[in-house]
Amino acid sequence: MSSRHFKVAALAGDGIGPEVMREAIKVLRATEKKLGFALEITEAPAGWAGIDAAGKALPDATLAVCKNSDAILFGSVGLPDRDPTMAKEARPERAALLPLRKEFDLFANLRPVKLLKELAGICPLRPERQGDGIDILVVRELTAGLYFGPKSTEEVVESHGPPHQPRRRYRKAVDTMVITSGEIERIAHVAFQAARQRRKKVTSIDKANVLENGVLWREVVTAIGAQYADIALEHMFVDNGAMQLVLRPSQFDVMLCENTFGDILSDEAAALGGSLGMLPSASLGKTSAEKTFGLYEPAGGTAPDLAGKNIANPIAQILSGALMLRHSFGMEAAAAAIETTVASDIRAGHRTGDICEAGDPKARKVGTHEMGDAIALAV
Ligand code: IPM
Ligand code: MG
Repeated sequence: MSSRHFKVAALAGDGIGPEVMREAIKVLRATEKKLGFALEITEAPAGWAGIDAAGKALPDATLAVCKNSDAILFGSVGLPDRDPTMAKEARPERAALLPLRKEFDLFANLRPVKLLKELAGICPLRPERQGDGIDILVVRELTAGLYFGPKSTEEVVESHGPPHQPRRRYRKAVDTMVITSGEIERIAHVAFQAARQRRKKVTSIDKANVLENGVLWREVVTAIGAQYADIALEHMFVDNGAMQLVLRPSQFDVMLCENTFGDILSDEAAALGGSLGMLPSASLGKTSAEKTFGLYEPAGGTAPDLAGKNIANPIAQILSGALMLRHSFGMEAAAAAIETTVASDIRAGHRTGDICEAGDPKARKVGTHEMGDAIALAV
């Protein structure tokens, strides 16, 4: 097997997942032909598709395909309105996506947000607030923090108080935000190293004025930052970070965040890039023997209201494929070829509904397939 042969598990999932996955695979196949590498792509069900096929959101056979692959190209899972009787622990978000992140120790989530010049008109900010451009990499810790700390919901019956008085009963939900210094160190290294390839600035996000793990976060990030003399480090409270993103987004290069903070701020940042439909992501494990296992997915979710209508934007999924070529397969040229083609496709005026600006004379509205075809043809 040549070193340019890679195995990919393609888990399209639910909602728009299968439609946008089809276009991403089309673009990968076109790139493969031109740039001389080979992908062995195995499709497997996950999410509601997994429940329908094998009774659970992450079927054993799907997990086996993932373990036998060099990377996972993921669509999206979860249909909030489907079957309310299904227990929350068995629903796709908690039973497929989070276990995959944990199983492969995918602690580093990279979400690159870029507002293309041609899409400046769909950015919700006025032009003067867009500054000299929006180009932000959100680095989100993905396997610790509030998502993964002990959680419970319990029925409480208060037993104290005077006799003969009715006891108070209520339910109590607990989520805990837990993070270790080691977990902060490894994600901080990812952020500083990414900043080296960019504009050399890291803004570390925390809530050190209130939360214990914010204090630890700030201490550890500062210590790691001292090893990167060439990178400017700034700390910011998360509430202020949310505000600064809309006031002056051009101040940010790399934003380093805890899991929940990164979840929230990356959606906010994505809106600045014009649409969630443009935002790819890479979730990476540790690199060993120069190989990095990763899961690559659009950040936008299943968008059930768009599903099956050929209107979803496939670009986030296509760009996720490019991130896979770069981070897991070390094929920078092929990744860059896809990214450049997407940018020129936008320049040429192709627009799915989410990025189509009313009154833009150059914009031509296209469907999911046409967008994928145009990119595949031009790559
Ligand atoms: C994301 C999504 C997921 C998350 C959901 C679907 C569990 O919002 O990848 O940002 O919260 O991590
Ligand atoms: Mg999210």
